[in-house]
Amino acid sequence: MSFPALAAAQNAPVPAPTEADRRADDAVAAMTIEERIQLVHGIMALPVLGLVVPERAVLGAGFIPGVPRLGIPDIRETDASLGVAWANGSRKDGATALPSGMALASSWDPGLMERGGAMIGAEARAKGFNVMLAGGVNLIREPRGGRTFEYLSEDPLLSGILVGASIRGVQSNHIVSTIKHFALNDHETARRSADILISDAAARESDLLAFQIGIEEGQPGSVMCAYNKINGHPACASDYLLNTVLKRDWGFKGWVMSDWGATPGIEAAIAGLDQQSGEQLDKAVHFGAPLAQAARRDPAIAARLGDMAQRVVRGLFAVGADKLDGKPVPIDFEANARVAQEAAAAGIVLLRNERNALPLADKARKIAVIGGYADIGVPAGGGASMVHGVEGPALSIPYRGDNPVGHVMPESYHRSVPLKALRERARDSEVVYRDGRYIAEAVQAARGADVAIVFATQFLNEGYDVPDLSLPGNQEALIAAVAAANPNTIVVLETGGPVTMPWLDQTAAVIEAWYPGARGAEAIAAVLFGDVNPGGRLPVTFPASIDQLPRPKIDGFDVVEPEFDGRANGRTFATDYNIEGSDVGYRWFVRQKTKPLFPFGFGLSYTRFEQGSLALAQARGRISATARVRNTGDRAGSTVVQLYLVEMAGKPVRRLVGFQKVELAPGEEKGAAFAIDPRLLASWSQDHWRVAAGSYAFALGTDAERLGKPFALRLDAQRHEP
Ligand code: BGC
Repeated sequence: MSFPALAAAQNAPVPAPTEADRRADDAVAAMTIEERIQLVHGIMALPVLGLVVPERAVLGAGFIPGVPRLGIPDIRETDASLGVAWANGSRKDGATALPSGMALASSWDPGLMERGGAMIGAEARAKGFNVMLAGGVNLIREPRGGRTFEYLSEDPLLSGILVGASIRGVQSNHIVSTIKHFALNDHETARRSADILISDAAARESDLLAFQIGIEEGQPGSVMCAYNKINGHPACASDYLLNTVLKRDWGFKGWVMSDWGATPGIEAAIAGLDQQSGEQLDKAVHFGAPLAQAARRDPAIAARLGDMAQRVVRGLFAVGADKLDGKPVPIDFEANARVAQEAAAAGIVLLRNERNALPLADKARKIAVIGGYADIGVPAGGGASMVHGVEGPALSIPYRGDNPVGHVMPESYHRSVPLKALRERARDSEVVYRDGRYIAEAVQAARGADVAIVFATQFLNEGYDVPDLSLPGNQEALIAAVAAANPNTIVVLETGGPVTMPWLDQTAAVIEAWYPGARGAEAIAAVLFGDVNPGGRLPVTFPASIDQLPRPKIDGFDVVEPEFDGRANGRTFATDYNIEGSDVGYRWFVRQKTKPLFPFGFGLSYTRFEQGSLALAQARGRISATARVRNTGDRAGSTVVQLYLVEMAGKPVRRLVGFQKVELAPGEEKGAAFAIDPRLLASWSQDHWRVAAGSYAFALGTDAERLGKPFALRLDAQRHEP
């Protein structure tokens, strides 16, 4: 074995040591090789697949025994970004489900992200955990991706700022948060066999930038590397990703943990992986005896092992996890549900509102509610991130195909019931329900009502991408038929991500409520009746058809990949992300000059806003901008001031360079101010960010397509270090 990577990592600029660094150095210096080894590999701590969970562990994603004699606590890990995971029914103690990542990101509100993170982190800590596998920030490069619901957006700035805020919130509880899945794990199909092809520049200007901003903003103790390969190397054994980008260029001082069962071998340690997670799912405990033996033989590996252990300990010390006693404490679920409800309401996006069909106020005497299990609950996304309350799901529908991950993908619903919430809000109205299985029956109910509200769902699950963006089952036909029968048809979408809407023009109104979490139904009712003025903005483009996507067909759909067995059917397949490069989402649509169904940044309101003109200033090469916005309607509401770069060194582009959510009373006017990150004006060039000399134009937008008047200024050439 040769170790060029070790040399590269050792040449990296060393940031000034902190108290946590020094204490971690001392602790690791006092450790035996066995103690160091013990810290760098861990088990999945769930009673599944015949696994036995040690008594000291808390049932959850992972467990690693600490070193009590040196004050290093046991590491107890739980999923994930939306709350303490239900772990497929292994946990019965319940937790508060935030709405999905898409819903959270639709708020465009870092403050709300931080409060949500603080709430779920407090629940994790109260249950005895000290590491939360949160911070999912892969870009939505593939809207059909099975984890679209769990991630945040297609834009690196928006995703990075929001995930950083959420991580800050989680870690405010003195527990570690991860940021994950590093990197380019943007879709799920045969995720262990996918080899993502992408240039360094395209990666740095897109997905990696989201991680970089997220790490700067949130200072997560740990980074979780991903299942997929990148340019031929497993992400968890990618010297480029781990040693060069993360540790050398970004100076990351925490630890890199593998995704569960994503450690290919001992060589991953040399490439920068610090901890093997979910080791029972790997072919061997590579970071156990084999790494110990190698460390005894080779001083370079021994030094690397010391660094690995130091990073783990440093991550725990930096947040104060060593000060927690790990004893469970009671949780105020009622207070936490209010946080979830606030987030759900802030994330609802009003997509269409003809003739002011919404809000319903008290004008509808007879309401027909149809479909979407609205009599039972609101949907949750599937996989490791699924959270349920104490009583478990209201409904769990087993998966019935022969998908290898089928056993962990029931479509399940939270106990927050739209029909009940609507009935409570419309006490003087008659509210009838039809489940939508028989279209004729739904049509009859709609005909006899003042308003028909159709709930439509699309289930997404980790490990499985959906083949297209349709609403599954008979839902498209159901909506079309109901809308034909009643012109006041309102569609409530509860989808994991974007869907296509062949029925759109027939409807009066559409709201996108995503997977709205523990109190989703109450949030939906509040928006439909106008108690809450919807302020959500799309964090992702809704394509008009999948033909508009960079890859109309998802690669690898034919690859058989039994879960927890990386051998698949022998095929590794390539997915070429160089097609769109760093032009993910709306940037791709602008580049192709295609018109989506709904653009990134889009969202209507029950009031009206007027954006005043933009002012730009330049001081020592840094650009700042200010804008004013006014509520010209007669209701309080919020809008998001969005600032886009539209010309870069003379070339037309579209890049979000600033955003600010603003709450405004009727008639009120406020200012928004932006300091523009120079990386957003730059291209990645070999080993630095390069701002080319030339003209740079900026415009305010109500979304990525509807832009105000552009303002330009000239910039001299600039160089910025990574
Ligand atoms: C998922 C991770 C998760 C881990 C532990 C993996 O399958 O990709 O997001 O944190 O399992 O449950």
